[in-house]
Amino acid sequence: MCGIVGYIGTDHAKEKIIDGLKRLEYRGYDSAGIALPINGSIEIRKAVGEIKNLESKISEAEFDSSVGIGHTRWATHGKPTEANAHPHGNMEQNIAIVHNGIIENYQEIREWLATEYGIKFKSETDSEVIAHLIGLYYDGDLLAAVNKAVAEMKGAYAVAAIAAEEPDKIVAVRKDAPLVAGIGKGFNFIASDIPAVLKYVQDVYLIENNETVVLTKDNIVIYDENGNTVKRDVYPVEWKADAADKADYDHFMLKEIHEQPKVIRETLMNRLNEDGSIRLDDISMTKEDIENFNKIYIVACGTAYHAGLVGKMVIERMAKIPVEIDVASEFRYRDTFIDDNTLFIAISQSGETLDTLEALRDAKSRGARILSVVNAVGSSIARESDDVFYTLAGPEIAVASTKAYTTQLICMYLIGLYMGSTRGTMDKEYYDRVLDELKALPGKVEKILYSEEKIKDMAKRYHFNDHVFFIGRGLDSGVSYEGSLKLKEISYIHSFAIAAGELKHGTIALMDSETLVVALATQDILYDKMVSNIEEIRARDAHVIGLAKEGRTEVEKVSNEAIYIPECIDEVAPVLAVIPLQIFAYYVALERGCSIDKPKNLAKSVTVE
Ligand code: G6P
Repeated sequence: MCGIVGYIGTDHAKEKIIDGLKRLEYRGYDSAGIALPINGSIEIRKAVGEIKNLESKISEAEFDSSVGIGHTRWATHGKPTEANAHPHGNMEQNIAIVHNGIIENYQEIREWLATEYGIKFKSETDSEVIAHLIGLYYDGDLLAAVNKAVAEMKGAYAVAAIAAEEPDKIVAVRKDAPLVAGIGKGFNFIASDIPAVLKYVQDVYLIENNETVVLTKDNIVIYDENGNTVKRDVYPVEWKADAADKADYDHFMLKEIHEQPKVIRETLMNRLNEDGSIRLDDISMTKEDIENFNKIYIVACGTAYHAGLVGKMVIERMAKIPVEIDVASEFRYRDTFIDDNTLFIAISQSGETLDTLEALRDAKSRGARILSVVNAVGSSIARESDDVFYTLAGPEIAVASTKAYTTQLICMYLIGLYMGSTRGTMDKEYYDRVLDELKALPGKVEKILYSEEKIKDMAKRYHFNDHVFFIGRGLDSGVSYEGSLKLKEISYIHSFAIAAGELKHGTIALMDSETLVVALATQDILYDKMVSNIEEIRARDAHVIGLAKEGRTEVEKVSNEAIYIPECIDEVAPVLAVIPLQIFAYYVALERGCSIDKPKNLAKSVTVE
């Protein structure tokens, strides 16, 4: 959830690191720091808050080197204070480290280091023990010391370390937390995520679990856990450098909302052959496997879970297999019924969410076949899956997920179509109809984006509401959860989603003239029932924004306001219905002066349980 950047070359390391950290701020941003080896010692500067606070502390000319490591933090152990910010040093101040992940046995190590060696700790973090351990084992060989330290550590980590006596290298190590080495000419980078280095390199090495990597300015050497050198293929990054820039948009979130027509098209077309069949060159699942599945579990967290809510209904409708959906943190601790004929689908933008990853590992160990829907290529979830459907959303920087969600939905349809056609549970006519509707989505999303001003005006009228409810039935109910999450995470308004039919079993008690309800009525088959639900709400004086397909004007008559999405079949309506909700959340948050791309207390990628 934090971000790591290290640079070694001939340029000013601090500038490169600051630039990389800014690109990683979306991963964590409550404090940041930089360590540089200067004149035989390690100099560390840290600041609480955003990277710009750190920038003002490192401006003096003496704080300079062509090597360094930096970190942006999302607090797990210890408050977001300067002492707890990374990098952490050892007592002699000749070693510094940055760390992502969690050291599970840090208390034990801490006590041992304090009692046996009199080490005094400056922070409350789990990470600080790493610096002291490396310091303890250091005798002029940083690689050897890192390896010895790692042998003592339990948990998940990506660590980058520097030593004052060896200013010509950075040593980094990975276990269950992402790490990439960016390959430059006369310089190299280490980073937790590709966007940090995208501006400077086009090729990276993806570092695997239990590997250590030594970077000098001209070389990158990777070692396995037995100390043997590893030959790794270069991974060319297809994302363009500007993919991680805001371009002319005020926020990444707005840019990412507008990228949706493009990324939906790319995610879809990447998997379609000319004859309309689904391209599966990289998928090992056989026809027989698909015929034999008797149950599917979809497991995910946050927005990805909401994509799964829609995915469940879509796959059940198309492939006629029972699908259970669960949030990963619950799935892991309940009784589940997995065997060799179970398909487990993990959905994750980052591919690193720890609960999802652990749920996957558990399902795999019990015989399930693992299919994942992931955005980050080479991420842990992608690597530990039998097959991967990639969402080609490109880097998603805003914490509130938008384009990852819509591309996850596209993968859900592709999986539904693929399984339905293989199992013979959908006829050709229905298959072709769904496919045509999917192909038309990018154009229809564009059309909705043209109505941005109208939704912006609506946000101006409703941004002061303290309680907002999102309701819907069928597929709309899944989308209402996502609409509600978008609003609460970036505007801090209390919002709540509920299946519309369930409203009168309690929640309607909260409806009065101060309440705003966003009612999704895009499902033709449930339209009349939604109109009745809206009438019930209006009878309690609540304000209603109705959302329906073009031409369904009854909604406008019963609601205070209406938003229309283009005509489509019910199945694909979620992709369209979510777009106005994303725009609404964005402009409400803007009206309320919130930090849209970096909402308080949230992180883009949650690599702790
Ligand atoms: C965090 C993010 C959410 C995201 C969720 C799951 O909570 O703030 O936007 O949906 O993690 O992340 P994943 O990377 O697994 O999709």
